[in-house]
Amino acid sequence: MQEKSKAGDISRRNFIKGLGSGVIGTTVAITTLPVIAADKKEPNEMATSGKVALALKVNGQAVQVVIEPRTTLAELLREHLNLTGTKIVCDHGECGGCTVLLNGQAVYSCHLLALDAAGKEVVTIEGLLQGEKLHPIQEAFIEHDGLQCGFCTPGQILAAQALLLKHPKPSQEQVKEGMAGNLCRCAAYPNILKSVLAAAEKSK
Ligand code: FES
Ligand code: FES
Repeated sequence: MQEKSKAGDISRRNFIKGLGSGVIGTTVAITTLPVIAADKKEPNEMATSGKVALALKVNGQAVQVVIEPRTTLAELLREHLNLTGTKIVCDHGECGGCTVLLNGQAVYSCHLLALDAAGKEVVTIEGLLQGEKLHPIQEAFIEHDGLQCGFCTPGQILAAQALLLKHPKPSQEQVKEGMAGNLCRCAAYPNILKSVLAAAEKSK
């Protein structure tokens, strides 16, 4: 598509850049997580409610919650901690849209019980922001148009982060393999590949 250049017009690149900043950036605005105390319930009251206490670290902060045992990690993040940058797409462990880091490994948060994260460290897309600054992977996705609708993007970025933690200088094949668990319905794969390789270059 040809870019518009008249004053007041919005070029496709700038529009996508703005969209990207929104998708990638607004979801990282929350810096303080609520420490949800155990609903202030007494232990026997908790037993009758069927709920359980859970303590974990999310984006560097200690979090305590009381949840139903069946709560998935994705539900905990979105519904209890208001970290809605983590997307639930298929909700069946098939698309990677809900990818977060658990102790540095990429996991499908829709397919994991929150209780499995007890005592562990979770990083979501919100946790990649460095102060007011986007993470180099987030910047690379914006610079290389690594997104279209942006719905899969938080998961793609977390998968890229897990990959680059393991392989700081990945080959093209390693990127393809490392990102294979993250589907993109907009088929932005060529630019996602470019974005991850560029992020690796930036981090050198
Ligand atoms: S939403 Fe979790 S894998 Fe698709
Ligand atoms: S950018 Fe739309 S689903 Fe990936």
